[in-house]
Amino acid sequence: MKFFIDTADIQEIRHANERGWVDGVTTNPSLVAKVGRPMREVIKEICQTVSGPVSAEVLSTAKDDMYKEGMELAKIHDNVVVKIPMTEDGLVVVKKFKAEGIRTNVTLVFSPLQALLVAKAGGTMVSPFVGRLDDISTPGMDLIHQIKTIYDNYDFSTEILVASIRHNVHILESAMMGADIVTVPFKVMQNMIPHPLTDKGLDIFLKDAQKIVK
Ligand code: G3P
Repeated sequence: MKFFIDTADIQEIRHANERGWVDGVTTNPSLVAKVGRPMREVIKEICQTVSGPVSAEVLSTAKDDMYKEGMELAKIHDNVVVKIPMTEDGLVVVKKFKAEGIRTNVTLVFSPLQALLVAKAGGTMVSPFVGRLDDISTPGMDLIHQIKTIYDNYDFSTEILVASIRHNVHILESAMMGADIVTVPFKVMQNMIPHPLTDKGLDIFLKDAQKIVK
């Protein structure tokens, strides 16, 4: 399973990358707005920091504008994956980019049939938002199971990128289901490390280490 970090914050990306947790990065307009810097500059810096795919989202919604904008984003660096919203126009652009060898990540996916259309259009990655489904009392991980079944049934090559991850159980279940990628906020990544029995065990080992005969 590939691990992407879901942030535009370069400090978080550097921290996670140095520890080997980062196979790629996803950003979105909200995450870029939060860092208060121009988008092109942020995407370029991320691409220079991380060696994997970096999703950069188009800000327009009409197909010609999305196409032009996506082309500009793709020119920033070879690792840029153009993030396109799950709309009818968006799918047209995905198909065009596929023909031109430009990778895409279709975002704001909330149903298995949307994901089926993404695969048909030739999307490189599909981003189902599990946390936002949970927020409206609809089990988000059920969507991952459905998409995985459909993609396996027909050998679609679109990668399932689980997005809107809020906690460790989302990551665990994604791994159990065989999702290709999870994109994880920095804080959630850090939460994967500690376990009370690890702390307790380490304390015991450190105390016993004092008793080792010299
Ligand atoms: O990258 C998009 C996605 O991960 C957003 O997550 O927490 O805003 O639902 P969230």
